[in-house]
Amino acid sequence: MNNYSSSAVVKTGRKIGRATRDALRVAQSKARQRSEWRHDTELIAEVRPYTMVLEPALLNLLDLVRSVQEAGIAGDFVECGVWRGGSAFLMAKQLQQLGEHNRTVWLCDSFEGLPPPQQVDGPAALAWAEQKDSPGYFENCRASVDDVQESMERLGLSSRVKLVQGWFNETLPAYRERIGPIALLRIDCDWYDSVWCCLDELYDQVASGGVIILDDYYTWDGCTLATHEFLSKRRLSHRILSVNSVVAYFFKQ
Ligand SMILES: C[S@@+](CC[C@H](N)C(=O)[O-])C[C@H]1O[C@@H](n2cnc3c(N)ncnc32)[C@H](O)[C@@H]1O
Repeated sequence: MNNYSSSAVVKTGRKIGRATRDALRVAQSKARQRSEWRHDTELIAEVRPYTMVLEPALLNLLDLVRSVQEAGIAGDFVECGVWRGGSAFLMAKQLQQLGEHNRTVWLCDSFEGLPPPQQVDGPAALAWAEQKDSPGYFENCRASVDDVQESMERLGLSSRVKLVQGWFNETLPAYRERIGPIALLRIDCDWYDSVWCCLDELYDQVASGGVIILDDYYTWDGCTLATHEFLSKRRLSHRILSVNSVVAYFFKQ
């Protein structure tokens, strides 16, 4: 979840492995040349009823999908924290447009909303959970799995999307093997425990040159802390890239 509205600027890190970095740079610029603003906004308009993610992050997501595809990074796409499915549908729509038929987009969610935030998630998260009548509460980010299934069918995405229903600490260990290598991992589940669980369970499966997106890095303390603690615990020196401090992501070297 985020609440930003600045324009999309993709920065490239200096310390990504040279071959990967060069391949991604070429791929990203080729993809941009081909991508038309109008085409991107049309794709986003299709999924807008199903996502709370704002436009700069969605434009960056389209860029990253194209980059990974162009660079030929192996693996499926996974979103942890789906709500009504919009950002995951956007990835699937873009793959469809690119004529990619071999990648599955996995949609993982409790479909019961967010677990309660903890102290580690910070005062803003604790306050957010108390403000049940605020417009950004979205019934504690709850969406029904039947509605997501129906939307997926309406958008013609059933053949490329798989739903994984349940709490991450139960579903991710159980599905990890079935999911296999991951080219793009989008983590959009707000709180410390959830973000930590996604990184801990799925990081090792992200392919070299693959990308991990942290939607809430600039929004909630828990996501920021979980990210840094995970990288530090594993002694990983990935540089965190950002789109105007709207959304964070890093490439796995
Ligand atoms: C902010 S919403 C996701 C927004 C969505 N990506 C979009 O396009 O609008 C966060 C989602 O994470 C899910 N979630 C958070 N923690 C979870 C956990 N530990 N296990 C399963 N689902 C979780 C919630 O159910 C909720 O649907």
